[in-house]
Amino acid sequence: MDIKSSQKKIRQLLKEKHAILLVHNYQRGEIQDIADLTGDSLGLSIEASKTDAEIIVFCGVHFMAETASILCPEKKVLLPVSSAGCPMADMIDAKSLIKKKSEFPGVPVVTYVNSPAEVKAESDLCCTSANAIQVVKSLKGYNSVLMVPDKNLAKFTQRHTDKKILIWDGFCPYHDRLSADKAKAVKDNHPQAIFLAHPECRPEVIDLADEVKSTSGMLDYVSKSSHKEFIIGTEIGLLHTLKTQNPDKIFIPADIDMVCEEMKLTHLEDIIHALETLTNVIKVDEDIRVRAKAAVERMLSIPRD
Ligand code: 13P
Ligand code: SF4
Repeated sequence: MDIKSSQKKIRQLLKEKHAILLVHNYQRGEIQDIADLTGDSLGLSIEASKTDAEIIVFCGVHFMAETASILCPEKKVLLPVSSAGCPMADMIDAKSLIKKKSEFPGVPVVTYVNSPAEVKAESDLCCTSANAIQVVKSLKGYNSVLMVPDKNLAKFTQRHTDKKILIWDGFCPYHDRLSADKAKAVKDNHPQAIFLAHPECRPEVIDLADEVKSTSGMLDYVSKSSHKEFIIGTEIGLLHTLKTQNPDKIFIPADIDMVCEEMKLTHLEDIIHALETLTNVIKVDEDIRVRAKAAVERMLSIPRD
């Protein structure tokens, strides 16, 4: 089936099954183009918590579909490719977090949503790349916070708070791939461009950035900016929407090798298969779900800027 026919078929199936298609900003362009909503982890979690659709088809990676299922246990949440995981989320598990917590009694744990449900269940609050600073600031009366699993997001947050941030040694292999030398070379070649970096980038890359934003934060910034040229320091899937929404602006990837292989596993055919068979349902054990939900909901209750 060609792309247009597959897209049409998916829209038809979504209607028949009373389903909604949520798509992360790093997904393939042809999937983003037919989404009910594209967004960052925070925006998609909020939409998942509000939708009245019976089925959520989540095009992203496992932790994202899992978060939707944590928030809406009565809905069927489908992840079209069940093996689409997040290597950073795999860098932590509940047992090792419990051990770490015992070393820092009384210190609250803020867990990036890029983590397994069992880890969220052991956490006080979740955060995303869009709200990590506000989440940490909301912890009034605490001098230290343990942030897991992304060391780069934790170090970025440390720049914006007087609290001591204790870090975990996790990272995103695709964002961590961008070196300061590479970013500097691209900046030197495009001196008039604004450099936008994701907080999952290394500290020495963050030092070079004009703005540090989540994926949706970047989309928002670009749409409001009068600048014409932008260097994009995140996974290259975001360039599709940036170009579609801003046809008069120029986008330069900071590194064309910033490709999340797991995000690219999903194809239109996988969505058709998931909708036709209603397979690849993501479910979380109820005891873990209830505790993980509390951490996600505490995050969602913090006002956005
Ligand atoms: P955003 O929440 O900024 O979309 O990031 C999600 C992610 O997985 C980044 O690697
Ligand atoms: Fe995980 Fe990195 Fe892929 Fe985001 S880009 S899903 S953090 S591996």
